[in-house]
Amino acid sequence: MARSKILVVDDERMIRWSIQQALSKDGHAVATVETGEEAVAQATDDTPDLVLLDITLPGIDGIEVLRRLKAHEPAITVVMVTATEELKTAVEAMRLGAYDYVSKPFDIDRLRVIVQNALDRHELSQEVEFHRKESVKKYGFHRIIGVSRKLKDVVEIARKVAKSEAATVLLQGESGTGKDLLAQAIHYESSRATRPFIPINCTALPEELLESELMGHEKGAFTDAKTTKKGLFEVAVGGTIFLDEIGDMKPGLQAKLLRFIEGKAFRRVGGHRDISVDVRIIAATNSNLAALVKSGQFREDLFFRLNVIPIHIPPLRERREDILPLAGHYLAEFSSDFKRDLRRFSERAKRQMLSHDWPGNVRELRNVIERAIILGAEGQVDTLDLPVAESRLDWGAYTAGSPDSAGGEASAEPVGDSPAGPPEGPGAVFILPPMGIVLEDVERDFIRQALEMTQGNQTKAAESLGLTRDALRYRMKKYGFLQ
Ligand SMILES: Nc1ncnc2c1ncn2[C@@H]1O[C@H](COP(=O)(O)OP(=O)(O)O)[C@@H](O)[C@H]1O
Ligand SMILES: [Mg+2]
Repeated sequence: MARSKILVVDDERMIRWSIQQALSKDGHAVATVETGEEAVAQATDDTPDLVLLDITLPGIDGIEVLRRLKAHEPAITVVMVTATEELKTAVEAMRLGAYDYVSKPFDIDRLRVIVQNALDRHELSQEVEFHRKESVKKYGFHRIIGVSRKLKDVVEIARKVAKSEAATVLLQGESGTGKDLLAQAIHYESSRATRPFIPINCTALPEELLESELMGHEKGAFTDAKTTKKGLFEVAVGGTIFLDEIGDMKPGLQAKLLRFIEGKAFRRVGGHRDISVDVRIIAATNSNLAALVKSGQFREDLFFRLNVIPIHIPPLRERREDILPLAGHYLAEFSSDFKRDLRRFSERAKRQMLSHDWPGNVRELRNVIERAIILGAEGQVDTLDLPVAESRLDWGAYTAGSPDSAGGEASAEPVGDSPAGPPEGPGAVFILPPMGIVLEDVERDFIRQALEMTQGNQTKAAESLGLTRDALRYRMKKYGFLQ
């Protein structure tokens, strides 16, 4: 038996003595005090595992001591010691959070049992609390990095949702924007944190399997159902189910999910009775559910049910302020993981990151930095291996005629002096985006595009870039297209 710290508070010397004798024999460290004032002073200085607290005390009474102890440490375990005529007060004490009470005169063996039960429960709740804190450290909101207003708004709503009773949450955002991350934070910073968090990918399983995964099945429901099996809705009781890629859920199952959300009950496959459970559903999708509703692939009623609290995580390119903080975070993380001494990004690398469109969002950024750290030289990250995003080289977007390039402050420079311009555009004048570009990246990408367009025909590619074949070959070597 673990040695527990017990504080006995009683003004009768005989009682203090007999309790101390019995509990010390059980291996506990027992301290005794006579007054409520002493009890509060001692317990707030060094919190005991258990307090045995007399109700009637000379100064502040037991109830007031209980109040003060609970205010100081809500998790403290207190057993009240009462005279029989104080039963009403004992009930009041339970309401204030006392674990149990014993009435005087008590049988010492009965007291020992109550003390042991209280200590066991105390230990269990300490353990649960420890694990809860560990999971918050591991999965909490603090992991979500970003300084943009847009991301902060997302996190703010998510924090509110976590604390709320909301039964369903819908997360929408492109792949790699952090939907998994957010779903975990919502679960582990909610009162459900000590219950399971169960992620299920709706794309991965065929409809029938997904149904029996979620709802379970009765013995004999189908050929392989040799035994009754609980579904994840039952396993997750009190917790959260994360339905990822909800847009891929088949209509039959959508109907069952809707019934479940509306009635908080479901039936096992092959079952005849409803089973009710309390689970929170966090659904996520990278497709536009409203559009799927329009095209008839997703039930409108389920959409409305899920969409009570919609959270949309914007793509990284719409919150560029987050790029460098995220990059810095991953630089530190991977440098330490791979034991590499890389502390900063060159200006060039920063410009590259800021001008890239990140179609794979944070996941892509993370991978690019991981690669740079594994493959790069020590010191600083000079350059990142990034394709120049197609959209940034899109003729329409960067010609003088495009609607968002009206400002005059950006310097414009014609690219090449050949007629190899856009098929229909006006003069091929490119506008420098405010965050700058890396000219060599642009050049490299145009060369790649020209080679692709001409299926590797160097003469034609050179022509389309306004270069001689030799000038093209020189650049192809420079950029590693040729050995
Ligand atoms: N704001 C963020 N802060 C830190 N890491 C992030 C952030 N957003 C996404 N990530 C990381 O990017 C990767 C992809 O995130 P994930 O949650 O799996 O995206 P999704 O589920 O939307 O595809 C994960 O490694 C995740 O930890
Ligand atoms: Mg995901």
